[in-house]
Amino acid sequence: MIKLQQLTKRFSRSGMDVTAVDGVDLDIQEGEIFGIIGYSGAGKSTLIRMLNGLEKPTAGKVIVNGLEMSTISGAELRKARQKVSMIFQHFNLLWSRTVEENISLPLEIAGMDKKDRAGRVRELIGLVGLEGREKAYPSELSGGQKQRVGIARALANEPRVLLCDEATSALDPETTDSILDLLTDINRRLGLTIVLITHEMHVIRKICHRVAVMEGGRVVEQGDVLDVFKSPVQPITRRFVSQVTEPGDAKQAVGQLADEYPEGTLVRLGFVGDRAEHPVLAKLIRAHDIDVNILQGNIAQTHGGAFGSLTLQLLGNDAAVREAIAFLQAEGVKTEVIGRD
Ligand SMILES: Nc1ncnc2c1ncn2[C@@H]1O[C@H](COP(=O)(O)OP(=O)(O)O)[C@@H](O)[C@H]1O
Ligand SMILES: [Mg+2]
Repeated sequence: MIKLQQLTKRFSRSGMDVTAVDGVDLDIQEGEIFGIIGYSGAGKSTLIRMLNGLEKPTAGKVIVNGLEMSTISGAELRKARQKVSMIFQHFNLLWSRTVEENISLPLEIAGMDKKDRAGRVRELIGLVGLEGREKAYPSELSGGQKQRVGIARALANEPRVLLCDEATSALDPETTDSILDLLTDINRRLGLTIVLITHEMHVIRKICHRVAVMEGGRVVEQGDVLDVFKSPVQPITRRFVSQVTEPGDAKQAVGQLADEYPEGTLVRLGFVGDRAEHPVLAKLIRAHDIDVNILQGNIAQTHGGAFGSLTLQLLGNDAAVREAIAFLQAEGVKTEVIGRD
C-alpha cells in the first residue's frame, strides 16, 4: 500500500546541509497501524510529510496506492492527497469555525453540495463521539475533543491512509488513551491504514502492529511490535522499550536491588506473548531446590500479546541456582543474571 524506496530529504540552511531523511526503505501494508518512533530531530515529520506530498524528496520514491507521489503535481496531487490525510499535534483547527464547520471544510473544498455535506458531517460527528458539540468553537473544547475534530475532518473525504504526526503528544495520558482507542476503532471499522509517528513507546505498545525506529534520518530497526519488544537489537530501541517495561529509573533500581538483596542470585526474566509466567515459576520452584523471591514485576499488554519483565532473587546452592537458570532458558524465558553474591 505504501512503499518507500531509498527515500532521502536534504535541507540546506545558510550553507549547511542537513540530511533529515537518509535512504529509508519501508513497506506499509494495507489496513495496518504502522508506528515510527524516534527522538526529536530524527526525521519523522519530514518522512511523514513526504507520504502525502507536502514535502518533495531529494532522492528516492514514495509510492502510495500505486501512485508515485514524488512525481505527480497539480490536480492529480490534490486528488491523491485526499486519500492520504493527516492529523497533527496541535490539531490545526480553524478557530473562527465551529466543530461542524471545521469538519465540513474538506467537503466544501472537494465540491460536495450543502445537503450532502450536512449528512456526512453528522455521520463523522457520530463516528468520533462529538454529538452535542456541533456548534462549539475550538476554544470551548478540551484537547481530546479538539483532536476528535481533527480526526473527523481528516476522515471527511474517505481517505485510505491516515497520517498522525505526534497526534497525542499534547494530551494527558488518559486523553491519549481515549484517542488511541478511537484510532484503533477507526482502523478496525473502516480498514483504514494508519501511519503514526511518536516519541512515546506507550503509543506504539498500545495500538501499533509494526514499528520502525528512526535515528539520524535512518530506520535502524523495524518489525512486529511484539518481536521488537521481545528482542530489541539497537541501543536506541532498548531505551524506547525500557520506557514501558522497566519501572522508574531502571538502572538505579538494579543497583538498589543488589544492595537491598545481597544474598543469592538476582535474575531478570523477560516474558513474551502467550507464555504465561505463572506455570513456569511454579515448575521452577517445584522442580528445583531453591527459594524464589519476586522482587519486581512489570507485565504489559501489546496488540500482539503480553510482554514484560520479572526480577527474582534465587536462593540456594550454586549448582541448584545454575540448574534453575538453565531450566528457565530451556523453557524459552529470556533470563539475565543481574547480580550475584
Ligand atoms: N524546513 C526545514 N529546513 C531545514 N531543516 C529542516 C526543515 N525541516 C526539518 N529540518 C531538519 O531536519 C531534521 C529532522 O527534523 P524533523 O523531521 O522535524 O524531525 P522529528 O519530527 O523527528 O523531530 C532536523 O535536524 C531539522 O532541524
Ligand atoms: Mg516532528
